[in-house]
Amino acid sequence: MTPDEHYPHVFRTLKIGQTEVRNRIFVPAHTTNFGEDNLPSSRHLAYHRARAAGGAGLIIFEGIRVHKSSLGRQQGVNGYEAGSIPKFRDIARAVREEGGKLFGQILHLGRHIDGNFARMASWSASSIPWTATATAPHPMTSQEIRMVVKAHADVAANLFEAELDGIELQLAHGHLLQQFLSPAVNAREDEYGGSLENRLRFAMETAIAVREIAGQGRTMGIRISADEFLQGGLTLDDMCDVVVRLATAVQIDFVNISHSAYHGSYTISTQMADMAFQNEQFRYLTNSISDALDKLQQKPVVMSVCRYNTIDLAEDMLSLGKADMIGMARAHVADPEIVNKAKTGRTKETLPCIGCNQGCADMLAQSLAISCLVNPRAGKEAEWPMPMLAKVDTKKPVLVVGAGPAGMEAAGIAAERGFPTTLADSKSTLGGTLSWLEMMPLRREFLNLTDRQKLRLGEHGVNIELERTISAEALKEYHDGHVIWAAGAGARSQMLSSEETTLTLEGALADTDALADRVLLVDHLGTWAVVSVAEYLADLGKQVWIVVPTGIVGWKISVYSSFALKYRLRQKNIQIVAGHSLSSFKNGLAILDDLSIEGESRNLQVDSVIAPVAGVPRTPPETLAEASIFNVGDSVSARTALEAVFEGHETALFLDA
Ligand SMILES: Cc1cc2nc3c(=O)[nH]c(=O)nc-3n(C[C@H](O)[C@H](O)[C@H](O)COP(=O)(O)O)c2cc1C
Repeated sequence: MTPDEHYPHVFRTLKIGQTEVRNRIFVPAHTTNFGEDNLPSSRHLAYHRARAAGGAGLIIFEGIRVHKSSLGRQQGVNGYEAGSIPKFRDIARAVREEGGKLFGQILHLGRHIDGNFARMASWSASSIPWTATATAPHPMTSQEIRMVVKAHADVAANLFEAELDGIELQLAHGHLLQQFLSPAVNAREDEYGGSLENRLRFAMETAIAVREIAGQGRTMGIRISADEFLQGGLTLDDMCDVVVRLATAVQIDFVNISHSAYHGSYTISTQMADMAFQNEQFRYLTNSISDALDKLQQKPVVMSVCRYNTIDLAEDMLSLGKADMIGMARAHVADPEIVNKAKTGRTKETLPCIGCNQGCADMLAQSLAISCLVNPRAGKEAEWPMPMLAKVDTKKPVLVVGAGPAGMEAAGIAAERGFPTTLADSKSTLGGTLSWLEMMPLRREFLNLTDRQKLRLGEHGVNIELERTISAEALKEYHDGHVIWAAGAGARSQMLSSEETTLTLEGALADTDALADRVLLVDHLGTWAVVSVAEYLADLGKQVWIVVPTGIVGWKISVYSSFALKYRLRQKNIQIVAGHSLSSFKNGLAILDDLSIEGESRNLQVDSVIAPVAGVPRTPPETLAEASIFNVGDSVSARTALEAVFEGHETALFLDA
């Protein structure tokens, strides 16, 4: 079967308004934080060129701010400065040169931008903040509303001047236009508040103004949240009504169906649904909106998104007939060539998006440039051009010590470059600490990374030596070559007195029966490590408590996952003891000190206590002065797989031949 036969629905052209695309896969808008001085950068250009070259039919450029009151930070891109036009033009031309099409998403973020950046208040429908910690926004006047309607139209005009192929008007994700539309946010009493017709007025006026700029001959569509997943907010029924009203009044060429709202609650963790969500979980939203649009004379192109991380999933959804195109955002961060790999029968070589959110959404939340745990090259397409990975002609041997995520990555890349490579580990399996995730259904997608790394080791002939401990003497054999030290960190747990023991995660997982029924975990780490094990133990039927000295369980996990995580913890009846520390565990009694009140404590009767602290790096021996030795991952400092894979990859990429 040829790939085109294997994916008959994916590899078909499509007309979206006036734009013809070569296949049914698009890259949804995703903010990269690659902007410089609020303008598109050469980093954007290289990033999008790579995804167009990799086969995507259509790329939708990240949310382009239409007004100063929506800037929020320096890396966010605006489309109202004249200086943005040539930069967008360069990107549009690069994408077209590679056979793709480029749309621009225009938006105003409203209440959840930080107004301090532009030294002004943030704007919204009413003065209701989006999280408990945000400041109250300014309820926009009708003059300001008119200004922002015009700002959308002006930016659309600029983007068409920059030769973009189309415009996506952002009505989704709880940004400004959705803030007006949502009964949970809009408390106005003027013609922009109250009835659905009034709440829709701002979006309607904006859509009309943008269509006027586009005329009939250019492509314009909308992105919507089909459900806000917010108490008192917009429901799927509301949104079926809204899309029909909009598409009846204005020519809408496509409807891109997402969900969620920026709001400090569960909803925000559905937008970039992580690996704990099912792949098919949001399809019903597309189905209902698609059915609602059936009643129109001219049905817009229907686009479906979220958790499509393989071309097989996209093919399956397309084959059901409700969607015309499938959006794959994070899957394209992970592998720019995902489409071409499917087209040329190389699907298994795809770097899989595992829905971890650590490199993309979590970086976004910190206002840092996005990256990708499985693909350290994401965002570095210009800095690390592909030829750098070209074969080197060398006999210099490379020894990688440690087969966790850092070592497997390093060995694979070194071998791919042509170094004769050996990967050694004292254990009997590959994968290092990630192997523990095998037993945890909600975290198991991580193993797709390990599987991909294993495949690369096999393809490039890496000599794998398991159950081999590398001595300082053995390292000397590599004095003419390179040693990449990826030996990880030794697990440690909180020290109490000599007769009291707490367990490491590894110790606990090695025999979960021995933990008995009541288990207390202490989250000193703030990463996924402790909460994942807590969930797993609760799923086994144990009664679980998590003591959190910082007060926020998994505090390093961004809002794009943390609210859904906390929801699950609650569902599993996991009790959080915030603002306490473990001071003693003896004879089944754990004493927890209240960190805010000197001398206050509470007791818990539990059977076992798991209290991991940062592991101790297994640093390389210092006896090897004459050889080149590179220390990477947890053996530098115990962190997460994100840092480990990056360091393994980068080190192998720059080894001298
Ligand atoms: C880092 C990141 C930034 C995003 N920025 C935007 C954005 O600017 N505009 C937008 O409409 N959606 C944005 N999204 C949401 C994506 O378009 C998409 O709906 C979401 O990631 C789910 O699709 P996926 O599972 O294919 O990643 C962003 C997603 C990510 C991961």
